[in-house]
Amino acid sequence: MKDLLRTADLTPGDLERVLDLAAAYKRHPHRQRTLLAGETVVLYFNKPSTRTRISFETAVARLGAVPIGVGPSDLQLGRGETIEDTARVMSRYARAFVIRTFSDDDVARFANNATIPVINALTDQHHPCQSLADLMTLRERMGRLSGLRVAYVGDGNNVAHSLLEAGALAGLDVRCGSPAGYQPDPEVVARAQAIAAETGGKVTVTADPVEAVKGCHAVYTDVWLSMGHAESERAERLKVFAPYQVNDALLAHADRDVLFMHCLPDHRGEEVTAEVVDGVRSIVFDQAENRLHTAAAILETLLSGELKGTAARR
Ligand code: CP
Ligand code: NVA
Repeated sequence: MKDLLRTADLTPGDLERVLDLAAAYKRHPHRQRTLLAGETVVLYFNKPSTRTRISFETAVARLGAVPIGVGPSDLQLGRGETIEDTARVMSRYARAFVIRTFSDDDVARFANNATIPVINALTDQHHPCQSLADLMTLRERMGRLSGLRVAYVGDGNNVAHSLLEAGALAGLDVRCGSPAGYQPDPEVVARAQAIAAETGGKVTVTADPVEAVKGCHAVYTDVWLSMGHAESERAERLKVFAPYQVNDALLAHADRDVLFMHCLPDHRGEEVTAEVVDGVRSIVFDQAENRLHTAAAILETLLSGELKGTAARR
């Protein structure tokens, strides 16, 4: 496996390997000071980022390499140089390319023309790096993954997609509660359900937020207006998603010891109340920290070529 473009690119064994290695990085953050000594990793961000960018840059530095962060106006890509040519040139310099942009097809084109690993740092459809940190956080909090029930409530886009795929790989009962018109992509749901059929997991989608969270060990949400969505959609989205706000009333239907998860940044008072995100059940800052340890594990496992991947299934 060369690239990490979506979570379902991993096998269940790959996922376990990344999570184990991430835990090792958490225990010993500087365990591989020279793995990438003298090398560079390029990080291309076509959207803002706090966690993904800084955690990857930090992970790259800890592995001994120099991170080179660039945006669209820094590269000739912004002036019309093709994705294909950019990918070929980057492959002559850097050891890996981390990319946050809009179109998944653009990232796939980049990966297909690069000889170095390409890592999806958030696209319209996927956020694989986030989902790995999410499962790492759940596993360290709960001591296990199998048998857990996790609900995502809200907009069924990138973060939800990757959580469904990761949950399926780990054999979780993972549910998505989203309003009609904002439910996850049927291709992603079908893919996650096919994986779950092999791992003993379960993937369901419902329009009922209460049904989604019923008895869950963790409830997850994300913003109602993602990067790239038009500001003009805000008023309509606030109305449609209002019944999906994660608040104490909704969490009362979950497990008594339910954990609250969010990829951040959050909008207190919209998708989650301040009481919940700042409360004792919230593990959002552990998720944020684990972005760093999983970034190191993703880089090491991809660069060592040890992940099997599911390219044949793609
Ligand atoms: N969760 C996440 O990806 O955050 P950033 O947008 O800050 O990178
Ligand atoms: N769904 C959000 C996630 C941000 C990390 C977005 O795409 O903006």
